[in-house]
Amino acid sequence: MAFPQKVRLVEMSPRDGLQNEPGPVIDTAIKTELIERLADCGLNHIESASFVSPKWVPQMGDATDVMAGIKRKPGVRYSVLTPNLKGFENALAAGVDEVAVFGAASESFSQKNINCSIAESLERFLPVMEAAKQHHIPVRGYVSTVLGCPYEGDIAPEQVAKVAKALAELGCYEISLGDTIGVGTPLKAKRMLEAVAAEVPIEKLAAHFHDTYGQALANLYAVLEEGISVIDASVAGLGGCPYAKGASGNVATEDVLYLLNGLGIKTGVDLDKLVATGEWISAQLNRQNGSKVGQALGGNCK
Ligand code: HMG
Ligand code: MG
Repeated sequence: MAFPQKVRLVEMSPRDGLQNEPGPVIDTAIKTELIERLADCGLNHIESASFVSPKWVPQMGDATDVMAGIKRKPGVRYSVLTPNLKGFENALAAGVDEVAVFGAASESFSQKNINCSIAESLERFLPVMEAAKQHHIPVRGYVSTVLGCPYEGDIAPEQVAKVAKALAELGCYEISLGDTIGVGTPLKAKRMLEAVAAEVPIEKLAAHFHDTYGQALANLYAVLEEGISVIDASVAGLGGCPYAKGASGNVATEDVLYLLNGLGIKTGVDLDKLVATGEWISAQLNRQNGSKVGQALGGNCK
């Protein structure tokens, strides 16, 4: 299959990027400035916060303030995670444009991450889907551990397909396939995608690859070849999941954009501004920039 002409980048850094940041809770003002800068780069879908239990994920405890603090740019979708109806109701009150429910292909990861089995998680999502429909809020769905689980190891592609299909049947407009711990390799990614695409049209699928083993760009190239045209990424490679110990952040948005630019695939995102944003947030967090492209171009972009 030919590469897509356009790719939609879904920016993860304010949520997946910051949720696992150690140390004190990051100032709300830094989070809102990050989101505004990302929108100025041309990113038009930004996962901005999580309405989860603050006891479980303290960094996301100010989700309502973050949503209230953003100067919203027309045409940009500011989405959030909502694991249950309580999260959805809080998100709705905060005026979000879109929500996401998140399940897993592995039973153990589901238990660790959201404290219930896969079947129970689907039951919990049902009232979220119904309420979202009533309020005309689109719902994205995630499947975690699609290429491996920190507790169970290999995950069968058919199991990923089963959970992705269940989320699509619940009404998720798009299913994002998470290599939560970044263990996948290109052929494995292709095999997994083939199994899922047999159940859910590929136009409804997105790739959400963490880069723990440095394979994310190669895996993305492999799934782009299969027809994936929505990619989740995090500026400066920020992040990791609190319930997947040792997992590093999403693939860096700058690195993905450099790859896509090289392939002539359009995104509408400005690389120089993105690199400057990656440098800025890395400095704010006192972290080394996790993007190779960000490191290479960083000094030149202001
Ligand atoms: P639980 O303990 O089973 O829930 O947690 P519960 O209904 O029994 O409630 C327990 C307490 O939490 C109660 O408070 C509730 O009010 C409160 P208490 O009475 O003890 O004071 N509570 C909430 N508070 C605020 N917002 C809510 C909410 N729900 C309950 N929405 C729950 C279940 C799902 C809430 C919990 O397990 C949780 O919050 N987990 C967080 C998981 C998380 O955020 N993980 C990281 C994101 S997923 C990810 O990173 C993967 C992804 O990137 C894809 C990939 O890479 O694979 C998406
Ligand atoms: Mg993730």
